[in-house]
Amino acid sequence: VTIRLKDYQPPAYWIKNCALIIRIFANHTEVDSTLTMVRNGDPSELPALVLDGVEQLIQSLSFDGEAITDYDYQHDRLTVQPTQAEFTFNAVTHIFPNTNTSLEGLYKSGTMVCTQCEAEGFRKITFYLDRPDVMATFSTRIEADQAPFPILLANGNPTASGELEQGRHFATWDDPFAKPAYLFATVAGDLVRRDDAFTTASGRDISLRIFAEPHNAHKTEFALTALKKSMRWDEERFGREYDLDIFMIVASDFFNMGAMENKGLNIFNSAAVLATPETASDDRFERIEGIVAHEYFHNWSGNRVTCRDWFQLSLKEGFTVYRDAEFTSDLHDRAVKRIKDVLFLKNHQFPQDGGPNAHPVQPQEYIEINNFYTVTVYEKGAEIVGMLHTLLGDRPFRQACDLYFERFDGMAVTTDDFVDCMAQISGQDFSQFKRWYTQAGTPIVAIHEDYDANLARYRLSFTQSCPATPGQSDKQPLVIPVKMALLDSTGQALPIDCNGDYNADTQVLTLTEAVTTVTFQHLASQPTPSLFRDFSAPVRVRQALSDPALLLLAQHDDNAFNRFEAVQQVYLDTLLKLTRGELDAIPALVDTVVLSILSDTQLSHALQAVLLSLPSYQQMMDNLDTVDAEAVIVARDRLKLHLAQTYQSHWATLSQTLTSADDYVFTADEVGRRELQGLALYYWVLSGDKFGLNSAEALYRAAQNQTDRLNGLKAVMASPDRDRQQRLLVHFYRHWHQDTQMVETWLALQAGAEGVGVTDILLLMAHDAFDFTNPNKVRSVLGGFTQNFKAFHDIQGDGYNFMSEQIVALNAINPQVAARFVGVFERWRKFAPERSAAMHSALTAVLETESLSPDVLELVQKTLV
Ligand code: ARG
Ligand code: ZN
Repeated sequence: VTIRLKDYQPPAYWIKNCALIIRIFANHTEVDSTLTMVRNGDPSELPALVLDGVEQLIQSLSFDGEAITDYDYQHDRLTVQPTQAEFTFNAVTHIFPNTNTSLEGLYKSGTMVCTQCEAEGFRKITFYLDRPDVMATFSTRIEADQAPFPILLANGNPTASGELEQGRHFATWDDPFAKPAYLFATVAGDLVRRDDAFTTASGRDISLRIFAEPHNAHKTEFALTALKKSMRWDEERFGREYDLDIFMIVASDFFNMGAMENKGLNIFNSAAVLATPETASDDRFERIEGIVAHEYFHNWSGNRVTCRDWFQLSLKEGFTVYRDAEFTSDLHDRAVKRIKDVLFLKNHQFPQDGGPNAHPVQPQEYIEINNFYTVTVYEKGAEIVGMLHTLLGDRPFRQACDLYFERFDGMAVTTDDFVDCMAQISGQDFSQFKRWYTQAGTPIVAIHEDYDANLARYRLSFTQSCPATPGQSDKQPLVIPVKMALLDSTGQALPIDCNGDYNADTQVLTLTEAVTTVTFQHLASQPTPSLFRDFSAPVRVRQALSDPALLLLAQHDDNAFNRFEAVQQVYLDTLLKLTRGELDAIPALVDTVVLSILSDTQLSHALQAVLLSLPSYQQMMDNLDTVDAEAVIVARDRLKLHLAQTYQSHWATLSQTLTSADDYVFTADEVGRRELQGLALYYWVLSGDKFGLNSAEALYRAAQNQTDRLNGLKAVMASPDRDRQQRLLVHFYRHWHQDTQMVETWLALQAGAEGVGVTDILLLMAHDAFDFTNPNKVRSVLGGFTQNFKAFHDIQGDGYNFMSEQIVALNAINPQVAARFVGVFERWRKFAPERSAAMHSALTAVLETESLSPDVLELVQKTLV
């Protein structure tokens, strides 16, 4: 069934309050739900009440205590007929968390029982108007056996707890903030609790608690610290204070996504919250800090102000991703964070936007909403918020956010409502800007320059276009902010005097037309343009820069992001030319650039590391019309080997000088140091130097933290010495097989290793450590394999058919996880005929399977079109 934005109707009834009693028993759970309801609309006309409910075993139904005998329950809908405009509806049903492998609704996770309700999981718990514009206050009573479930949690503040007969006990929780059902959560388990406290700006004391199963309990401290930083930051940067008396986080080993912002009771994937220096590497610490912040920030951007319908998902997700990126930028290194975020966008969102599943940030229709928790809704959505910030400037942007939170507190609203606050504060008209929400596809901005020495006049013309995307052939011009500077031959910014829509305070030129030509006056010599600084708009820039211009930007642009872009452009051009067979040798420009990065002592280690990293396979693919996988692989290997060998002595020196004997600390400087050391070691080993390989193994063996350990191990994995790799992998498992996150890492390392094939993957899946019902394990192995470009696309291997079978098998267990893997075939059309046909037939095999979930079906159908 296709759901369309244009069909939105307010609900026929509201739910004011939801009182739940959840009785957990060994083999089933009884849910007793009382909804206090009122007609929305003419009270003299009472339409049927249609409640969502999936796999509910009905025990009883009643209106105001009167049993309902006349009801219709089919196709996940319960239809009953109210006789009053205000009434209570009670349902007692049975559900089965132990066999719920979809990990949606109430389900068993290891030794505990927990929930995931976003987007439409609450209907698996009880009958409800399961839509975000229905906001109710909740009270929850949980009853369970005391021994296996000593901890009983739900949203809001705790109100009572006590013992019951037969070894059972209860707890009650009260959430006074009206919320949609997708924010409901409950947890029962034998959990270890870590406590802390936070005093808000206005002086309220908040109790903070993180819960984890005993085997994970030693890993919760970092997240708690991150939480406190997030709470303070949201007060300082956005004026947002926490509201309940208690804030809880629970770590779950079985979880479909990263984490969930349930009111007052966030539930996290263990992998996204648990960290110790011994078991988590720097990138994991970064990710955890960002996700803890993200979920916390949702308390305002998502919970206090929520979405009217799921087409507005980016209202909370785009905004919250923007907010967590700002948090990380403020805490660590803004330029590095920006570079990594843009890389993520280019590696994942650009390909989505250019493929069969391209959709607007505000999708216009969907079959399964779970399929729309995408990089487009999240990351491109965040870019849109970033552009609003760029167009308004700091203060007005903050004022507009304040207005948004104040005006819509307690309401379920739309992305339009959000942008309208920006319009009101700035006095600007954002109607054209809103096209960013409804138009899919990555815009292309082609740039031409023209310099007239006699007139000291320089012209830039910008031509924007946007390729057709499925269902959208006509594209309209967008509002595109171009943060820019014109540089002289030393890289100094020149004064700008132009006729364009240029804001001198923010250095932003705004484009609104299909073609914009801007004339710059008083330029005695031809400047070098530094455009789209900090990636001021999510567009593809087509600009034919001369080698000297690229070199100037790569060496001297004081905008670190654009310096990075110029360096990447040099690498990417080389990679693409190598792929097309257009080069005999590596161009001198590459070496000039690399040497100047290696010798630039002003650069931070972190920046050096990103500047010395090559564009990914995805980016190469994204810039080719047809992908010859072998040629892509050969090209990338060749440039990598060139860097490894040409700068061997640099890599050796860096590897050796960047060591530290100090205790692990998670700071931007230290993260940068370790990152550069890891990269240098990798290149050193790749260069073929035996000393490099030995020192990689030495780093692995002596490592006191996971970052060093993985730096060593990953470098060893880059060597052709399979025996040595095997020895270290065996050692790794022997030492850390009891640690869930370490085992996941171990699985992923092997699935991502050079030379693995389907047989190796099957062996990993047959290993004791593997569990097909656990999404993290599945992602480690199957995700590791499918991201292993050489292995997955090996035409001699059977990777495509193998993945097709895995998708079908997963479909029966966990449709959400299965659907994610359909994405590995997303760009099948890009490949040269042999692979493209093989991928097509693998997808067709999935499609021909019986009883596909709507999740998988929707994506496979769209991908094949
Ligand atoms: N709202 C969560 C977050 O971004 C993600 C929940 C995803 N759920 C889903 N069913 N896709 O923080
Ligand atoms: Zn989110």
